[in-house]
Amino acid sequence: MKILVTGGAGFIGGNFVQHMLHNHPEHSILCIDALTYAGNIETLATVIDNTRFKFIKADISDRELIYQVFEKESLDIVVNFAAESHVDRSIENPQIFLQTNVMGTQVLLDACRNYGIKRYHQVSTDEVYGDLPLDNPNLFFTETSSLHASSPYAASKAAADLLCGAYQRTYGLPITISRCSNNYGPYQFPEKLIPLMITNAVAEKELPVYGNGENIRDWLYVEDHCIAIDLILQNGEIGQVYNIGGHNEMRNIDIVKIILSILGKPETLITYVKDRKGHDLRYAIDPTFIHDQLGWLPTTKFEQGIQKTISWYLNNSKWWKNILDGSYQKSYETYMSYMKKTVRKA
Ligand code: NAD
Ligand code: DAU
Repeated sequence: MKILVTGGAGFIGGNFVQHMLHNHPEHSILCIDALTYAGNIETLATVIDNTRFKFIKADISDRELIYQVFEKESLDIVVNFAAESHVDRSIENPQIFLQTNVMGTQVLLDACRNYGIKRYHQVSTDEVYGDLPLDNPNLFFTETSSLHASSPYAASKAAADLLCGAYQRTYGLPITISRCSNNYGPYQFPEKLIPLMITNAVAEKELPVYGNGENIRDWLYVEDHCIAIDLILQNGEIGQVYNIGGHNEMRNIDIVKIILSILGKPETLITYVKDRKGHDLRYAIDPTFIHDQLGWLPTTKFEQGIQKTISWYLNNSKWWKNILDGSYQKSYETYMSYMKKTVRKA
């Protein structure tokens, strides 16, 4: 099978590309990514020479270019990770979120209609359900919870999900959707809570905690998300939404304190700052459906996952320091000149 992975130079897409190449010798992967500020070709360093892997720099909302890719590549499966993904940025500038997350998804869906594919999988988020109260721990998001997006980011993801549902029903496109809780692990851009806190703590900079730090997120190690999507591609039912989460709810402040404790840094680095506008209180996934239907269960407990993640950031400081000093944005040019040399040699 030839699988198109969009957004593969980002956090989860990059982990998914590695997961698929490692576990599925029968598949080849074409990755397209616009390499926005959140995309980093260095995330794909371990697979760039793999003969079953190819990278094309492309914007999913560029209809002409995307159609050319579909025309040329004879794709079987599309997995759409490409998105603007940071809630704070969506509050500052919603427009690009609608452009990429909604219009970009529509271009991909149209391309799938025009060129025919066996499966389109939309990588969505639990944020489409809005939030849950802090004082009722028995409430969870299920696949039938209604959509109540709070941020422009969440609204754009919910709109894309609705488009996917409409294309499945109206045109019979073979679509599945997954809605996952908060991911953490290697290669996460250091603007998100966990990598920001790790990299700031290492540098002994302030750790900005929004509001009172009591908001709750349901954390999942990224490899477990990749395994879930892999299972959905293999055995998922067309038209179905799958919620993915591992019952690992934690308050932000507790996460920050765990990171400080593992790194041996003082809690005096914690700085409470102004709250995020419209800040969702609590996310919590009920994963019963994906467990019953596909046998998925998370494999990495938070205690191991956070240790592995911190070790990865300590052992790969070049990856995030190149992001912090901006030099990662020149990496694509280096990659292109490397590819040209490789082609000349061949
Ligand atoms: P990310 O921001 O790390 O990566 C996004 C990638 O998409 C980047 O490589 C970026 O260059 C690329 N991209 C952005 N706009 C593009 C465009 N117009 N065309 C092509 N590529 C473009 O995001 P992430 O955290 O890896 O999230 C990936 C997907 O998973 C997103 O759809 C997000 O909504 C979803 N999701 C994320 C989480 C999480 O906790 N991070 C949880 C659930 C779902
Ligand atoms: O639930 C899935 C979603 O998780 C994904 O769809 C999003 O793409 C992803 O970014 C993430 O959204 P969050 O807003 O939950 O993640 P973030 O890392 O930005 O923030 C996590 C929590 O930590 C949130 O309550 C806000 C808080 N926070 C965040 C930052 C960056 C802080 O207190 N301080 C910070 O500096």
